[in-house]
Amino acid sequence: MVVGDEKKTACVTGGNGYIASALIKMLLQKGYAVKTTVRNPDDMAKNSHLRDLQELGPLTILRADLLEEGSFDEAVAGCDLAFLVAAPVNLASEDPEKEVIEAAVRGTLNVMRSCAKAGTVKRVVLTSSSGGVYIRPELRGDGHVLDEASWSDVEYLRAEKPPLWWAYCASKVLLEKAACGFAEEHGIRLVTVCPVVTVGAAPAPVVNTSVPVCLSFLTGDEALLGTLKGVERTSGAVQLVHVDDLCRAELFVAEEEAANGRYICCSLNTTVVELARFLAHKYPQYGVKTNFTGDDQLLEKPRVSLSSAKLVSEGFEFKYKTLDEIYDDVVEYGKALGILPY
Ligand SMILES: NC(=O)c1ccc[n+]([C@@H]2O[C@H](COP(=O)([O-])OP(=O)(O)OC[C@H]3O[C@@H](n4cnc5c(N)ncnc54)[C@H](OP(=O)(O)O)[C@@H]3O)[C@@H](O)[C@H]2O)c1
Repeated sequence: MVVGDEKKTACVTGGNGYIASALIKMLLQKGYAVKTTVRNPDDMAKNSHLRDLQELGPLTILRADLLEEGSFDEAVAGCDLAFLVAAPVNLASEDPEKEVIEAAVRGTLNVMRSCAKAGTVKRVVLTSSSGGVYIRPELRGDGHVLDEASWSDVEYLRAEKPPLWWAYCASKVLLEKAACGFAEEHGIRLVTVCPVVTVGAAPAPVVNTSVPVCLSFLTGDEALLGTLKGVERTSGAVQLVHVDDLCRAELFVAEEEAANGRYICCSLNTTVVELARFLAHKYPQYGVKTNFTGDDQLLEKPRVSLSSAKLVSEGFEFKYKTLDEIYDDVVEYGKALGILPY
């Protein structure tokens, strides 16, 4: 993106992360100058791709930690756009209230304060999650379609602590609300993207989140498959989006003058059973298990769907709309990451 002779500059937090690495690549390809942050710039096992991405355009790598006040000042200074992607994604935390919820809210406000100080940031794009949208125990039966007006029930999450990711989902609601309040108070133009489970190849050389979970059908990793079953049990479906579409959506809401509020980013709603059948057919060499006898809570069809109608009605088009398209490059990526042996 070049205005006159000047490239526009975007900050992306957490550049060693899965989604952030894909977003940085896209921004550089679109002509933006990019400043990104990592916690440990010397950790080449996690950051090697950033050196490669520097071949595509001006990319500056800075050190910053969400929990250090003012840590992002330099990264955000002079930027036109700020993409807040870094977040604690620690589902195994022993103190989730402190390490996930408090850290996420504090970290988000910390970066927002840096944006306010910079005075150049025209728009902040906050990456939240569908986990902040769909944990609503009152939704019984089938046929629910949720849009951006839906918020996960923090009181329920804190009281019942559904396994694995209750604090993560609660943190997303609370950080979104805190960011919104701060933005209103300080005249910052904020849009929030709520992605669903994200799949597809990205530049990051180490990935611990959705990619190994979505490849668990092929790797036979029952614990990770259990995470996906947990998503289905608590949300009423498994929702997917390709990382390329997610990054295009983030850029779309950053650049569209009229973009405002929250945007669910979801290409399709499916189930564990449907996914297993699809993957068994597409990748017969992995012997994917399709018999879930005994897993009686698993669904044949989605019970609750997430809708990206708002994003689409404002002019965004998903490129990857079928399971086939969404999973197309992830097996090769899984091999490159060392998750899949062959
Ligand atoms: N992947 C998905 O399916 C999905 C779906 C919905 C929403 N999201 C959201 O998208 C964002 C990125 O997710 P991802 O899948 O790309 O996860 P990821 O690869 O684990 O990236 C998370 C990033 O946050 C950084 N981070 C964590 N704690 C930090 C701290 N205290 N200070 C600075 N940086 C910190 C991590 O850095 P370190 O490597 O140093 O820990 C890492 O770069 C997250 O906000 C996540 O909630 C992801």
